[in-house]
Amino acid sequence: MNICCIGAGYVGGPTMAMIALKCPEHRVTVVDINEKRIAAWNSDELPVYEPGLDDVVREARGRNLFFSTDVNGTIAEADMIFISVNTPTKTYGVGAGRAADLKFIEKCARQIADVAKGNIIVVEKSTLPVRTAESVRRILEGCGGEFTFQVLSNPEFLAEGTAMEDLNEPDRVLIGGEQTPEGEEAAQALVDVYAHWVPRERILTTNVWSSELSKLTANAFLAQRVSSINAISALCEATEADVEEVARAIGTDSRIGPKFLKSSVGFGGSCFQKDILNLVYLCQHFGLPEVADYWEQVIVMNDYQKSRFVRRLVRTLFNTVSDKKIAILGFAFKKDTNDTRESPAIYVCRDLLEEQANVHIYDPKVKPAQIFADLGQAATDADGKANDSIIIEEDVYAACKDAHAVAILTEWDQFKTLDWQRIYDNMLKPAFVFDGRNILDAAALRKIGFEVSGIGRV
Ligand code: NAD
Ligand code: UGA
Repeated sequence: MNICCIGAGYVGGPTMAMIALKCPEHRVTVVDINEKRIAAWNSDELPVYEPGLDDVVREARGRNLFFSTDVNGTIAEADMIFISVNTPTKTYGVGAGRAADLKFIEKCARQIADVAKGNIIVVEKSTLPVRTAESVRRILEGCGGEFTFQVLSNPEFLAEGTAMEDLNEPDRVLIGGEQTPEGEEAAQALVDVYAHWVPRERILTTNVWSSELSKLTANAFLAQRVSSINAISALCEATEADVEEVARAIGTDSRIGPKFLKSSVGFGGSCFQKDILNLVYLCQHFGLPEVADYWEQVIVMNDYQKSRFVRRLVRTLFNTVSDKKIAILGFAFKKDTNDTRESPAIYVCRDLLEEQANVHIYDPKVKPAQIFADLGQAATDADGKANDSIIIEEDVYAACKDAHAVAILTEWDQFKTLDWQRIYDNMLKPAFVFDGRNILDAAALRKIGFEVSGIGRV
């Protein structure tokens, strides 16, 4: 088959690289309108940092994996077309701040309608509100083009930072299709792709609507666990209970389970917030305000957790951070990714800047330009003078030197093995550490002399 994927982002790139690796007989082409991104996929410095991705791309690229800006040409030759474009929260008009913005999806559908040929299978890979496949179908039908088609829903469940493991050994692959002979045949063609490496019993087939809704629901349930434990973290701080101990104690109940109970400065990433907001919007749309309020609280709790972290930091630093140097370790929304979308670090830094602190930021994978863009500030002013309230450091020890406090905002492994004695010696005293990820050995740091605040632990 000729497989085309529209959208060479965090999902399209890694997912198609894995399909190409596992299915050498299929030709897989990933297309994007973003020329820079495609050029990066064709270079040695991929646009997405993901452990294990480089090796897979190196093996398959040029063999049966291609990255191209020729969107129309690739669609015209394709038998199977994945749509993997972004579906951000709408920022304008009806549903602004909640509904998913489907303009990129609609553009793709219209582009497919214009140029596709033969018998094609259109696969929704992007995360979409339930019943989007109906709109895609109507656009394809309405164009009177020279092709026949089926629309499948095949949401992606990979998490960034572990994308290649998740793709290689998924808990499940979900394929939703129309329950007609033609729909079942199309679903089977996609099952056959995944069956190259995924055990058959892990490939679930459902109707299209269940598949679309399951994706939003899975993210809502995962985010809800983080907000639940974060809610308890606030109570722990008030009562001298330790949230890490509470999480361990409840996680050993097999009905609750140990995963996704790590208390933190808040969840980030491009999907949890937008997908829950989308779910909230759908519930409101279908006249279910109580259900909408129930899920919205997951977001409210997450916002509270981020601002609570800054308030506690300021309070501890004698109620002022004005003109103080705060070292920020980690800017990505989680470890092992260069993605900063909705990273809690953005909110924490903005609040600290609002309090007139100077933030010195170190992250091993995020580029300085990205950090300035996320914080809505320029690296230099009109006269070329450097921004002295935001300094991006290449060296973690330089970031901490003469700082009043260090805040850990991403759980990069390297932070656990830093020379903390050296950091202490070079900081102002009292030397404060705010461990927004609970990754450090607080007892060992206290022995050195640090004053340590974790999340949900005193
Ligand atoms: P992304 O922003 O990294 O990539 C999307 C790409 O689509 C961009 O490069 C953009 O230029 C391209 N694009 C947009 N419109 C286009 C068009 N008309 N033609 C060609 N290219 C076009 O987004 P992402 O993180 O890869 O997410 C994609 C989808 O997958 C979203 O719906 C998201 O919710 C879902 N998802 C993401 C993750 C994740 O971990 N990032 C996991 C599961 C599902
Ligand atoms: C999440 C889901 O885990 C994926 O299954 C899904 O495919 C994806 O969203 C998506 O649809 O985009 P991702 O956002 O990449 O994946 O990363 P997660 O590992 O889920 O982490 C999300 C955020 O929650 C991070 O900021 C992380 O630090 C935080 N988190 C996670 C916690 O604070 N505590 C935890 O116990 C787990």
